[in-house]
Amino acid sequence: MLIYLWAESRGGVIGYRGQLPWHLPADMHYFKTTTTGHTVIAGAKTFASFGRPLPHRTNVVVSHRPAGEFPAGVTVLNSLDAVRQYAAARPHELLYVVGGAQLFTGLMADVDRLYRTTIAADFPGDTRMPAIDYAQFTKIGEQVGVRDADNPYDYVFEQFERR
Ligand SMILES: NC(=O)c1ccc[n+]([C@@H]2O[C@H](COP(=O)([O-])OP(=O)(O)OC[C@H]3O[C@@H](n4cnc5c(N)ncnc54)[C@H](OP(=O)(O)O)[C@@H]3O)[C@@H](O)[C@H]2O)c1
Repeated sequence: MLIYLWAESRGGVIGYRGQLPWHLPADMHYFKTTTTGHTVIAGAKTFASFGRPLPHRTNVVVSHRPAGEFPAGVTVLNSLDAVRQYAAARPHELLYVVGGAQLFTGLMADVDRLYRTTIAADFPGDTRMPAIDYAQFTKIGEQVGVRDADNPYDYVFEQFERR
């Protein structure tokens, strides 16, 4: 199962200068607890933003570059079709597509679930989430984030499943 997992601020902003535009530890915790034990699939730029393979997860990177340019143990897929084949061979695994915009755009017809964090704040951004036709999805969950000194925004976690 392919699941998109991302956070967006107002206007669908997801990235700025190769990084997340915000610091929201509660969302990082959500990301970690949701993906741990499963597979993360990242575009090469998003993978670079991690700085290292994510521990306790199967790391898949999508890149035109050869596997030898990535750390040992990382699975490198060279096309979106290779991602589709990878997913088709693992129908019972949770495969989290964690961005960025290029992957979210390219796999839109293939994604089974959407796990979205929406942050009600404005941030500078140079990367945006592509348009999603939410009419094709049903909301299956929502958790309102706790606003506190470390997480000084209103934010909500939502989950959607393809109809
Ligand atoms: N807010 C969030 O939840 C979130 C999530 C993820 C990322 N982000 C942010 O988004 C930004 C990065 O997103 P991005 O869209 O610029 O980049 P990206 O999707 O992470 O990576 C793009 C790279 O992926 C590879 N790629 C993409 N499509 C491919 C294909 N069809 N076949 C083979 N390789 C392919 C290419 O790598 P090569 O050049 O190596 O071939 C391409 O340069 C960063 O600012 C990041 O922090 C935010």
